[in-house]
Amino acid sequence: MEIKLEDLKVLYSEEQLNTRIKEIAQELDNFYKGEEVTAICVLKGAVMFATELVKDLNMPVKMEFIRLSSYGSGTSTSGKVNAVDIKLPDLNGKNVLIIEDIVDTGLTAKFLTDFIHMNFNVKSFKFCSLLDKKITRKVDIEPDYYGFEVDNRFVVGFGLDYDGYYRNLRYIGYKS
Ligand code: IMP
Ligand code: MG
Repeated sequence: MEIKLEDLKVLYSEEQLNTRIKEIAQELDNFYKGEEVTAICVLKGAVMFATELVKDLNMPVKMEFIRLSSYGSGTSTSGKVNAVDIKLPDLNGKNVLIIEDIVDTGLTAKFLTDFIHMNFNVKSFKFCSLLDKKITRKVDIEPDYYGFEVDNRFVVGFGLDYDGYYRNLRYIGYKS
């Protein structure tokens, strides 16, 4: 499959994304009640979502960035998670919030959940994803917070890429 800009249809507009992100931030504010949070952005896909989301949080926030990859250059997952760069500070006793772009097979979410719990005794652990492709799940895992559910189609934009492209779009699109 090849994806051209002119073939893209808007699935979630910039306005819909902004509104939903503010709602999620409100839910997170309600949960953390002013306690400090370490927000871990999973690069590269979650970069847009994470930077928008944290601006609307009202507790003290530390941001960390890790880089994982599971997709190759195509539109289906390789089935294997690569920890490209996963250096983190001491998270013992911390409220840890993972920020992802999309949960698809769930392998990345499972890998990260296990990784954090194996290495740290955290105060709390929450997984927040902009999108949730529930239908393609291969492992039993659900994000604690998510923005929108998407059906089984490949989406791009707002951080999500096709072969490295389209992360810069203001909206989430799909190939029509
Ligand atoms: P999972 O490990 O299969 O859950 O896949 C997670 C990663 O695959 C996400 O963080 C994305 O980077 C990528 N991914 C899954 N579905 C899509 C999609 O529709 N468009 C772009 N990237 C996707
Ligand atoms: Mg990703």
